Amino acid sequence: MGNNLLKGKRGIIFGALDENSIAWKTALKVKDEGGTFTLTNAPIAMRLGKINELAKECNAQVIPADATSEPELSTLFSKSVEALGGKLDFVLHSIGMSPNIRKGKEYGDMNYEWYLKTLDISALSFHKILQTAEKLDAMNEWGSIVALSYIASQRSYPDYTDMAQAKAMLESIARSYGARFAKLKKVRVNTISQSPTKTTAGAGISGFDVFFDYAKMMSPLGNASAEDCAKYIVALFSDYTRMVTMQNLMHDGGFSSTGITQEMIERLTK
Ligand SMILES: NC(=O)c1ccc[n+]([C@@H]2O[C@H](COP(=O)([O-])OP(=O)(O)OC[C@H]3O[C@@H](n4cnc5c(N)ncnc54)[C@H](O)[C@@H]3O)[C@@H](O)[C@H]2O)c1
Repeated sequence: MGNNLLKGKRGIIFGALDENSIAWKTALKVKDEGGTFTLTNAPIAMRLGKINELAKECNAQVIPADATSEPELSTLFSKSVEALGGKLDFVLHSIGMSPNIRKGKEYGDMNYEWYLKTLDISALSFHKILQTAEKLDAMNEWGSIVALSYIASQRSYPDYTDMAQAKAMLESIARSYGARFAKLKKVRVNTISQSPTKTTAGAGISGFDVFFDYAKMMSPLGNASAEDCAKYIVALFSDYTRMVTMQNLMHDGGFSSTGITQEMIERLTK
């Protein structure tokens, strides 16, 4: 049982593919805290994933939308406002995909058509979502919009290739649109920079297990799990974080502020 932190709040959750997805855990947590929402994903993911199971558990309507398609986003926002009985208080962008990573391309051998697709799906879609929400006047005052990022936006990781640029762009969009939406409607816009997490998107990065273990060793609190992330997202959707906007918030067990840990020293001097 939750604490009714989101009682009376309505929203849209993008990106629940299966029970490992950060969006899946978030949907369960939001429901637990009294929020109501629609669930959405790309039409192809609907067929491959298990979103209908989640929808049943959360008593939520599923509305398919490719997050790169403005008309589909427009329909999604209009239908969500209608289905939920009013304007929205929260939106979660939990979307990422790189065809170059999927096809095992190295950073020195990028396919640029796919590169643009990576940026469109993983970053520009966030702008499209924000712009759609503004144009349809779909958000309530003091609403909260969150997207998920990764520290490879700021530091180099060999196998994260074009997703690093997508995350840098995503964080930049949160700052630029956050300034605009604050003035327009007091809506806040943030990204959460999450620890490596064992999900379909995470496991798609080659060498994932190594950087999962490395991050764990380099984070005083260990890696943040998908459940921990869901709780943080709930906090950002709640009224307890009203003055937080235009931030890239580290949710990483201390990784980003760590030089070296005792654990790592012991490991390297063994
Ligand atoms: N797993 C990690 O290690 C990790 C770490 C930091 C940040 N993140 C970020 O968290 C977010 C969620 O990923 P996850 O780890 O839960 O994995 P996931 O694979 O469960 O979720 C990714 C989602 O993106 C959706 N998607 C892909 N293309 C789409 C499109 N065109 N339109 C709409 N949806 C589309 C997929 O269907 C899927 O549901 C992503 O932004 C990811 O980059 C993940």
